[in-house]
Amino acid sequence: MNSFEQLESNVRSYCRKWPAVFATAHGSTITDVDGVEYLDFFAGAGALSYGHNNPVLVEVAIEHLRAGRLLHSLDTFTVEKRRFLEAMQRYVLEPRQLDMVIQTVGPTGATAVEAALQLAQRLTGRRAVVGFEGSYHGMSYRAASISASMAGRATSAHLKDFVALPFVENVTDADLELLDRTLRGTVDGQPIGALIIEPTQGEGGARPFDPAYLRAIRERCSELGIIVIADEVQAGVGRTGSFFSFESSGLDPDIVCVSKSISGLGLPMALNLVRRSLDTWAPGEFSGTFRGNNLAFATSATMLETYWADSTLEKSTEQRGHTVRSALQNMADQFGEGQFVVRGNGLLCGLDVGSTETAARIAQGAFERHLIVETCGAGDTTVKLLPALVIGDDQLEDGLTRLSDAVAQATSH
Ligand SMILES: Cc1ncc(COP(=O)(O)O)c(C=O)c1O
Repeated sequence: MNSFEQLESNVRSYCRKWPAVFATAHGSTITDVDGVEYLDFFAGAGALSYGHNNPVLVEVAIEHLRAGRLLHSLDTFTVEKRRFLEAMQRYVLEPRQLDMVIQTVGPTGATAVEAALQLAQRLTGRRAVVGFEGSYHGMSYRAASISASMAGRATSAHLKDFVALPFVENVTDADLELLDRTLRGTVDGQPIGALIIEPTQGEGGARPFDPAYLRAIRERCSELGIIVIADEVQAGVGRTGSFFSFESSGLDPDIVCVSKSISGLGLPMALNLVRRSLDTWAPGEFSGTFRGNNLAFATSATMLETYWADSTLEKSTEQRGHTVRSALQNMADQFGEGQFVVRGNGLLCGLDVGSTETAARIAQGAFERHLIVETCGAGDTTVKLLPALVIGDDQLEDGLTRLSDAVAQATSH
């Protein structure tokens, strides 16, 4: 470990919880340098929904490299970009009747969020943003400043023109009144230009918003000319079953931020979908050196063709989500003394154990059983499960058994 401890910044984090040196990975299995195999229920924080080194996508990448195709292209036209744009249109936009254009941005989710906020400000001339408690949008200064899940942490950025509304699981009249008042009001003297929401929160604790609330957001924002931004960086690309977690909710966002699993292979890639009529960018107004990652375009197009030409994956994710949540409910019933809460949507699931220490002990116990899970939510009290969507049924069951053992151990007195 010495090189890591001596040479890497103190900011390093996941490696402190999982102090193995990882070497290879296939599907949902990661193997360390000593040959120890770990079952991965973390999936690169949602960037590996299609598994590690998905064999179909690896072939595409190898072929791309062998053939001497472009890797880097800024936003020039390339064969891969055309194939990717057409695949997005055919498998994602058209079937959902989304009349949107695709803006590729630099490679991180935070960059997509930055671009969305800048476009919203450009469109409305208003700077203030409404977001939600428990949200996470990235670590660039602006994205961090609207990440209410980071509030109070030493690293959080603070800008004043932001206000966070509470998370809404089951909408009430009081929620709607607060929403109304906030959207019609000002923040730091600024009127509201944009509302940004993760329709299913990831870092906030695997929490889906009430679809009725999402519909109410759309209605009020339309009335007030406020731009609705859906941050689908973690919950999108099939994580919750449907391609986007807002589908059929009526949120009908103006801008959708997409990243993490969109390349299919865990390659850095991010983009925004922008309602065609709102695509008022001047050429070059938002730029980025790495917005033309052709290797990622190639693997992404194949991922879309392979998994989104029909509803097989969507249905299997929904069904597996039920399997995971019912296993978590069993753990809650057996070990939770009425205190544990199961949450989730598709394969973005969480067990809120109501205690930072217990959640940490469960994640630690899971690692000792060679299962990788992380914690999230306010106070890190939720054990979050993000298995690959393509995980084998046996592996899913095996991981849930290991987790149950870890919960049993962590809660035994
Ligand atoms: C919902 C959401 N938005 C934005 C981001 C930021 O993405 P990145 O880390 O690629 O900047 C994340 C990362 O976890 C996320 O979960």
